[in-house]
Amino acid sequence: MAKKLFIKTYGCQMNVYDSARMADVLAPLGYRAVDAPDGADMIILNTCHIREKAAEKVYSELGRIKPLKQAKIAAGGDMIVAVAGCVAQAEGETLMERAPVVDLVVGPQTYHRLPELIARARRAVSAGDGPGRGAIDIDFPVQTKFDHLPDQAAPQGASAFLSVQEGCDKFCTFCVVPYTRGAEYSRPVGQVDSEARRLVAAGAAEITLLGQNVNAYHGRDERIGADVGLAELIRTLARIEGLARIRYTTSHPRDMNDDLIAAHGDEPKLMPFLHLPVQSGSDRVLAAMNRQHGADDYLSLVERLRRARPDIALSSDFIVGFPGESEAEFAQTLALIEQVEFAHAYSFKYSPRPGTPGALMPDQVLEAVKEERLMRLQALLCDQQTRFNQSHRGHTLAVLFTGPGRHPGQLVGRSPYLQSVHASAPDRLIGRVADVSILAVKPNSLAGRLAALDAPPDVLTERAIA
Ligand code: SAH
Ligand code: SF4
Ligand code: F3S
Repeated sequence: MAKKLFIKTYGCQMNVYDSARMADVLAPLGYRAVDAPDGADMIILNTCHIREKAAEKVYSELGRIKPLKQAKIAAGGDMIVAVAGCVAQAEGETLMERAPVVDLVVGPQTYHRLPELIARARRAVSAGDGPGRGAIDIDFPVQTKFDHLPDQAAPQGASAFLSVQEGCDKFCTFCVVPYTRGAEYSRPVGQVDSEARRLVAAGAAEITLLGQNVNAYHGRDERIGADVGLAELIRTLARIEGLARIRYTTSHPRDMNDDLIAAHGDEPKLMPFLHLPVQSGSDRVLAAMNRQHGADDYLSLVERLRRARPDIALSSDFIVGFPGESEAEFAQTLALIEQVEFAHAYSFKYSPRPGTPGALMPDQVLEAVKEERLMRLQALLCDQQTRFNQSHRGHTLAVLFTGPGRHPGQLVGRSPYLQSVHASAPDRLIGRVADVSILAVKPNSLAGRLAALDAPPDVLTERAIA
């Protein structure tokens, strides 16, 4: 009988990829993914440690899981509770001490060993070791998990994630990633190409290449016996028939080289949308963050990208209230935003993370100041996002339909610029790209009608907007 596996994912897209791969690793053991934790045989929390709030959420979730586990055991069953991901890596045994409901802790680089860990947890319970069963694996193994993950993978649908690079050697002074994910590593081209072909055969029309520092990619290409960069990898994957769109995230401004910029101009499958975090517009703050670039470097990158691909839409991450950030320095961030015009962005209050240099810096900024700056920053970014979305009204966008929309007969998809687009369309268009005339713009999505459909616009508009 199938065992029920519930995985809850926090954090970045790499965690989304890892969660899917954990399910693939456990499938041969009879585990099938379910979408609620009640009665599960195994629960995995795939966690994020990037900000304090992200880590605290895990402990609250574990508190909610405890009665579920007790109920399952009282009914004569068993439940294995695992914590995976970046909190697992950072906290290790502390997790089991703070939350004894946890049986198993596995880091982001060792989840291919989940079957042994589960066996260890089971042995521990039969030996009567009590509630916390102490199976833990947070190594950074010499051989990567990618060499051990099964080829078999559950289909991801029309748009799929593929991790090509992991870890980070940049050590920005605010960031935990180099500690939780380890050193930078790039998967070989052949391995990535095979996985991409399997994804396309399983229905993917769009692939997003993932890495904490994806544009630092430098994987081995056996065909030429040398390492190649991300642009070369993209050109290789673009040859896959049936693959319509390629994206990549997240990039670091320092690794945005000429070849990659050129690829935005000459590789039609590469989508004109780039998430390129800048964090701050102040050179002093950027230096204190150890970003290794200035505001002008970023602006000139944007200019070069727009020269290569005039319609490229940009997205970024921002941190407000980094230690020592003055009002004038914050104003420089606002000025940079004004200059660039972003289509989309994420912004955060600085969160001091234990073990990072930033946490020990003097002049930590008051919470109320961070709060107030974040509001001003987000108001500006929100205006820009609205302006960008509004600019598509009355125009046609090529939409890759990814699944059913909110209403019967409606599908949702994404534009080249990663906007969600709703339109009335037949199910057979899922996994296909079709032109949509944009009729309505909402805060987080667009609505329109299939350009080829010759129906009275007002009828369709009403349904699309509803
Ligand atoms: N690898 C990506 C970022 C990963 S973390 C990159 O280099 O850009 C995603 C975002 O979280 C970061 O870009 C940053 O804006 C934010 N972030 C990371 N650490 C943070 C911290 N300590 N406090 C607030 N925001 C943080
Ligand atoms: Fe973190 Fe900086 Fe590495 Fe991005 S580049 S993962 S922000 S250390
Ligand atoms: Fe979070 Fe780890 Fe990703 S800390 S953002 S899950 S790399």
